[in-house]
Amino acid sequence: MTRALILSLASLVAGAALPATAVSGDDKPLYTVVDGTQVDEATYNGFKTWRAAACDRCHGPNQEGMVGPSLIESLKVLSKDDFKKTLAEGRMAKGMPAWNTNEKVMNNIDDLYAYLKGRSDGAITQAKVSKIK
Ligand code: HEC
Repeated sequence: MTRALILSLASLVAGAALPATAVSGDDKPLYTVVDGTQVDEATYNGFKTWRAAACDRCHGPNQEGMVGPSLIESLKVLSKDDFKKTLAEGRMAKGMPAWNTNEKVMNNIDDLYAYLKGRSDGAITQAKVSKIK
């Protein structure tokens, strides 16, 4: 299932940045970002999951790719369903581990997707994020 994402970019009003929000098919935003580095609770949880699983060992500290591909580029084309399938099953022959026995990853896979999609869309401007204050 491919979802159309509408990215409303933050506009600057008198020096105050409005949140950037990507909207999926339903009403719930996929992520909300303020100033490029502050994110909603779920997206922050995705960042924590990325850290806990240490995906950066292979995909780079800024998701830019190392032995594994750049997830900035991958998530421009990979559907959410394919993302989930790749994580669950891995691609063992090519060096991507399966995460289906990792509860932390599987229970937070939607949040992980939201975080990485925000990075790929350019709405989140650096890997390290904090919660919206
Ligand atoms: C041990 C190294 C390693 C780790 C750790 C790892 N990956 Fe990967 N990953 C890879 C490699 C290598 C590929 C490319 C597989 C291929 O060529 O099809 C890949 C592919 C992927 C893809 C598919 C990219 C595409 O363009 O199809 C996604 C999404 C992904 N990884 C996400 C993650 C996430 C999220 C984590 C952490 C939970 C993670 N990976 C941890 C090595 C790793």
